[in-house]
Amino acid sequence: MKNSLRLRLSLWIAVVIAAIGLAAGVLSFALAFADAHEMQDEQLQQIAALASAGKLTLDAVPASAAAPWEEGEAESRLVVQLLAARTAPALPAGPLGPLPAELAPGLHTVAHAGEQWRVAIRDLPSGQRVAVGQPTSLRDEIATNSALRTVIPLLVLLPALILLVALLVRRMLQPVTQLAAQLDRRQPGDTEPVRAGNVPAEIQPFIASIDGLLERVRQLIAQQQRFIADAAHELRTPVTALGLQAENLERVAMPDEARARLAPLKAGLARTRSLLDQLLSLALQQSPEAPPGPVALDAVVREAVQDLLPLAQARQVEIVATALEPVVVQAAQAQLAALVRNVIDNAVRYSAAGSIVEVAVVSLAGRAVFTADDQGPGLAAQEIDRVFDPFYRVPGSPEGGSGLGLAIVRAAAQRLGGTVTLVNRPAGGLRLRYEQPQAPP
Ligand SMILES: Nc1ncnc2c1ncn2[C@@H]1O[C@H](COP(=O)(O)OP(=O)(O)O)[C@@H](O)[C@H]1O
Ligand SMILES: [Mg+2]
Repeated sequence: MKNSLRLRLSLWIAVVIAAIGLAAGVLSFALAFADAHEMQDEQLQQIAALASAGKLTLDAVPASAAAPWEEGEAESRLVVQLLAARTAPALPAGPLGPLPAELAPGLHTVAHAGEQWRVAIRDLPSGQRVAVGQPTSLRDEIATNSALRTVIPLLVLLPALILLVALLVRRMLQPVTQLAAQLDRRQPGDTEPVRAGNVPAEIQPFIASIDGLLERVRQLIAQQQRFIADAAHELRTPVTALGLQAENLERVAMPDEARARLAPLKAGLARTRSLLDQLLSLALQQSPEAPPGPVALDAVVREAVQDLLPLAQARQVEIVATALEPVVVQAAQAQLAALVRNVIDNAVRYSAAGSIVEVAVVSLAGRAVFTADDQGPGLAAQEIDRVFDPFYRVPGSPEGGSGLGLAIVRAAAQRLGGTVTLVNRPAGGLRLRYEQPQAPP
């Protein structure tokens, strides 16, 4: 989270917005506050002017020191007071108290009765003077209120702005998140170039790098597959020759002891030969293949069952086709055949004598489904994924296998765009299910 670009962008933009917002708030508060004071000063002077022009009856202002306003009327604490001429003796003190006689016309701030007052003084034609005053605390309160009103919209909009920025940043970085998710979903062997839609230009070089890396990985995988295929192919010829030599040797007169040793030798050579065949088959499944065409899945299954009858008979297992619907799929024949053959081979191989293997091909909602059910031991849950790994055999499996069968099945399924699943049947035994889209008619 600490390294999230999204978080950092949102955070920093929010900090900048908040800082600028705060500065703007303070500045606009200060300006509005000063403006309010200025306006109040003007008002005082205007009232003083009205009073001096005789438009305000000064008699109305009691000359006593008592406050001329009632409780709760504090907002209107405006006092107008007549002062004696500068040379004449002072008049009785008004609400503003005895103001210093030398106060010049204009604005002043004076202290009276523990309060600061803002006072506007104006000369009258009679030589007397008029003073209009207001407590500064009241002025400040009014100015603060009006200044605050200018700041409130800013304070309300600030969080909205920050939220908006967070949403926008998230929106902008969406393509990157989507790209990561797309890469995460990839199958292990998928080396197709990244198909990124509207990724920001800044990310494009990164994608190009990933594509370059994928291409190198693809080449490496292809190179290794070629090596395996070549090695298997090269080894097949000498191993076949060895098998023939062993058969020739059988026809030669030899001591019984030597003949007894010959049987395991021949069996070992046959196993080696089948391992090489499987290796070659796997390598072929993984390498680029002939373009697929329409293939009848039911025919492929029928053929595989035919091929495996000798093995089934030897193991006293019966293969029953419970359904063989005519289903056509788009596939490379050899791949589909290898898949089906390895599946049925396993079902037969891991069933006890006397059991039945059921195979079926059906069409389900536009998809071709091939299943093989056996009555063998099934697989422990933790083995079900592992058995698809090359060379993986469940410990204690009968000899003769290479562990490549299901790896071939999986590679073929990936090639064909189908899916393989293994489940233990409730009645015991294993069910392998392969499905892929049916070819359009
Ligand atoms: N139908 C099945 N029933 C029980 N176990 C199976 C079945 N098919 C495969 N297995 C287990 O999965 C392992 C891997 O199978 P596979 O890849 O075909 O290799 P192999 O058959 O050469 O051992 C086998 O060793 C076997 O233990
Ligand atoms: Mg097998």
